[in-house]
Amino acid sequence: MNPTLRAAITGTGMSVPKEVLGNDHFAGYLDTSDEWITTRSGIKQRHRAGEGETTVTMATDASRKALADAGIEPEDLDLILFATVTPDTYVPSAACWLQGELGAKNAGAMDINAACAGLIYGMTQAAMYLHSGMYKHILIVGAETLSRITDMQDRSTCVLFGDGASAVVMSHSDDPERGVIYQNLGADGTCADYIWQPAGGSRLPHTEATLAEKLDKLRMKGREVYKFAVVKFNRLVQQALKDTGLKTEDIDLIVPHQSNLRIIESVQEKMKLPIEKFVVNIDRYGNTSAASVGMALDEARRDGRVKSGDTVMMIAFGAGLTWAVIIVRI
Ligand code: ACO
Repeated sequence: MNPTLRAAITGTGMSVPKEVLGNDHFAGYLDTSDEWITTRSGIKQRHRAGEGETTVTMATDASRKALADAGIEPEDLDLILFATVTPDTYVPSAACWLQGELGAKNAGAMDINAACAGLIYGMTQAAMYLHSGMYKHILIVGAETLSRITDMQDRSTCVLFGDGASAVVMSHSDDPERGVIYQNLGADGTCADYIWQPAGGSRLPHTEATLAEKLDKLRMKGREVYKFAVVKFNRLVQQALKDTGLKTEDIDLIVPHQSNLRIIESVQEKMKLPIEKFVVNIDRYGNTSAASVGMALDEARRDGRVKSGDTVMMIAFGAGLTWAVIIVRI
């Protein structure tokens, strides 16, 4: 990386739909309970999109907040990277809808499909454009309406997911003390069927039969994903510390993907760090996939847990399987 060209986080924002569903909502019609959901996942409630609320409407709201936070106008944006597995339409991209809504007429726009790791995938790409000097301001969005591809009769998935959006503005900075200092992306496509949506693509377009069999809804091998996440999370943290020469105590805050509180706690115990070093908001939002890391980062910035000069590690895993780590000096 060019040490004189830094990719800094200059603004964040988030947005969630109005409707809040507590665990008792699911206990009311499924064989589940608040106790099971809380102890197995740490989730107490999640937001669900209603009529008129979509991935792009939430993303627009989150983006406007992030732009205001960064002190720039939509016309200042050079690029929009939109991470989602639930775009409003497949053609055109969610990024193009958002670009039009914002009036970001000078920005290129494209989607990224890396599930829960998508926002960090986007941030690493943004960092490359900013390091190269090609662009000055990039908007990275993670937004999902997972409720629209979840089988609400499947207790093993429907209690876990929530809807929401997050947005991050990354800008060129001349400050050598600020910006992205490490990034690591990965994937294992041999585990593609751990979390997937069987129908709706070119392999199996929607038919009455696929809809009747709910093949348009997410299928997940929860236990396998859980084991993968615990092992990979810990290995990636160790790898990042080794590659950067940073020590555990040099990391001021870890912003993990909010998929399961037990996954976060298992890494926290291995790292022998207090839970306060991890941003946790899964209790209020559930797993919002690509939105999750950005929502946690935005809350941590707004409540003062992220301060100028802090070293923040963000880490996520998702369908694909995919994973991503980024370390940023704020
Ligand atoms: N309420 C009550 N019982 C349930 C529920 C529920 N909501 N869901 C599952 N069960 C039952 C199962 O049927 C099973 O019963 P059985 O033993 O009679 O077969 C039992 O609980 C245990 O099921 P497990 O799947 O072994 O439970 P586990 O402790 O692993 O917790 C969970 C399940 C929470 C899904 C966990 O595996 C997990 O968090 N996995 C990771 C999921 C994840 O991170 N996904 C991220 C990617 S999502 C994306 O990218 C879009």
